[in-house]
Amino acid sequence: MKRHLTSAGELSRDDAVLILDTAEEMARLADRPVKKLPTLRGRTIVNLFFEDSTRTRISFEAASKRLSADVINFSAKGSSVSKGESLKDTALTLEAMGADAVVIRHGESGAPHRLATSGWIGGSVVNAGDGTHEHPTQALLDAFTMRRRLVGSGAEGRDLSGRRVTVVGDILHSRVARSNVHLLSTLGAQVTLVAPPTLVPVGVESWPCEVSYALDPVLDTSDAVMMLRVQRERMRDAFFPTEREYARRYGLDGERMARMPEHAVVMHPGPMNRGMEITAEVADSPRCTAVEQVTNGVSIRMAVLYLLLGGASPAVATGGAPAPATPANPATPATPATEEND
Ligand code: NCD
Repeated sequence: MKRHLTSAGELSRDDAVLILDTAEEMARLADRPVKKLPTLRGRTIVNLFFEDSTRTRISFEAASKRLSADVINFSAKGSSVSKGESLKDTALTLEAMGADAVVIRHGESGAPHRLATSGWIGGSVVNAGDGTHEHPTQALLDAFTMRRRLVGSGAEGRDLSGRRVTVVGDILHSRVARSNVHLLSTLGAQVTLVAPPTLVPVGVESWPCEVSYALDPVLDTSDAVMMLRVQRERMRDAFFPTEREYARRYGLDGERMARMPEHAVVMHPGPMNRGMEITAEVADSPRCTAVEQVTNGVSIRMAVLYLLLGGASPAVATGGAPAPATPANPATPATPATEEND
């Protein structure tokens, strides 16, 4: 594993599978009476959120706490950032406080990369969503959810080869779509993006996926259909005639869901616009994995933080005894915990 996680596109297949397998170990912990590991005891993780977030911020916080790290939540509102402090000065402050990892969400595409390559901080940088660019841990939790649902138990070591994933909606503004396209293709899945022409990014031809302007023709061959939120806060123009028209052409309702194969799942990263890209009937159906994705997000973020900060020893120790805290050694390849030492 590299020291930072700023882009899903940078992950090799082996690293991606290692994260998914480690997350399986972390997920098993959730069934134990004591859910906490001492692995990152004494380490400090800062959640640096310049954009609003519910799921992602809480998920990183829960993941850090389950690994016994100290967590500092820093939100731009109410901080010196609102007085005009730069990213550099904020980073230097965090460095002075001894942050071992900074989890950053920022409105500007490329801000996590800047932080990782600037030399301002010595710890690991994890991208929790930057502008319209990438959201790697979301793509990892989506892949984890798909692997569990579509490949099944005993999926450790396996990728998503041959699975067909359709991603529908506001691709133009979606960092989730971009990260998913790259990660899913690394994991062997075939991705089709579905959107009105106005919501397809320029340069999509170079992405490892197909593009369709119609949803109906791809429904019956999809193993997973991922619905995306229409991101009004990032829209400066009118990208479609009316909400009703958008929902009619690109929304997923019960009738469309019934045309998906029986085993296929509906996914959504949240927050959902019920009645727009997804009807309440679909959102609340057992085929929709939205809530499961949130649960899986904690396991994935535990796996990522563990592998970046302390991945030199097994995450889950032999015989159920807690693993000792390890010094940071990002250069050492991680040994994922196995069934035997669970
Ligand atoms: C996504 C995001 O923030 O990029 N949500 C999330 O992280 N769960 C998608 C969105 O905001 O629509």
